[in-house]
Amino acid sequence: MERLVAFIGSPRERSSSRLLLDLFTSSFEGKRTVFSVYRLNVQPCSACGGCYDTGVCVIEDDMVRVYSALDSADYVVVASPIYFYGPPSPLKAVIDRCQPFWVRKFLKKEKMKPKKGALITVGATEGRNLFLPFYYIALVWFNSINASFPLHIKVRGVEEPSDLGEELLNEVKVEGISFFGQDKGFN
Ligand SMILES: Cc1cc2nc3c(=O)[nH]c(=O)nc-3n(C[C@H](O)[C@H](O)[C@H](O)COP(=O)(O)O)c2cc1C
Repeated sequence: MERLVAFIGSPRERSSSRLLLDLFTSSFEGKRTVFSVYRLNVQPCSACGGCYDTGVCVIEDDMVRVYSALDSADYVVVASPIYFYGPPSPLKAVIDRCQPFWVRKFLKKEKMKPKKGALITVGATEGRNLFLPFYYIALVWFNSINASFPLHIKVRGVEEPSDLGEELLNEVKVEGISFFGQDKGFN
């Protein structure tokens, strides 16, 4: 059975990130693990260097569950608001704590399970470069956890979930069908 690990970067109970994630993954039929990063207890990376020796983080918190889920994931999907052009800080803490994956992949040359990654970002403004910083952060993160990064859904001008138009919601659902390969039968 295929495994999906998803991260929600919004602190809000009713968030655009959650809504978009639910629609995007609605066609996925395997096992899903969803981490709402504001509900996790994840300390920031302390740059202690422990993972450089062992490939394992020395801090014992909720990242233990995240590491294990990511190790066996086939898909990684992140849906998040943009805060000051980047990820909200609890999501950035999760990303920074993935340094052990970087060590395993690039220093220890470990063969890690390949994954397919997607990023959904939501911002309130219309800035031309609104999605760039988050995109680059996701690019290096996904590379470190051995995930390809074929899809970045960029949603602009959205302050509240009620700003999300029907057409966009439909498009996101269709993008998900194609991402998870459930449309094979129609080709
Ligand atoms: C602390 C904070 C920083 C934000 N920074 C930006 C920003 O730099 N650019 C932007 O377009 N929107 C920014 N926003 C707005 C949110 O990205 C936007 O309201 C988004 O739709 C919220 O998504 P959610 O419903 O998933 O939480 C910020 C919001 C907060 C609370």
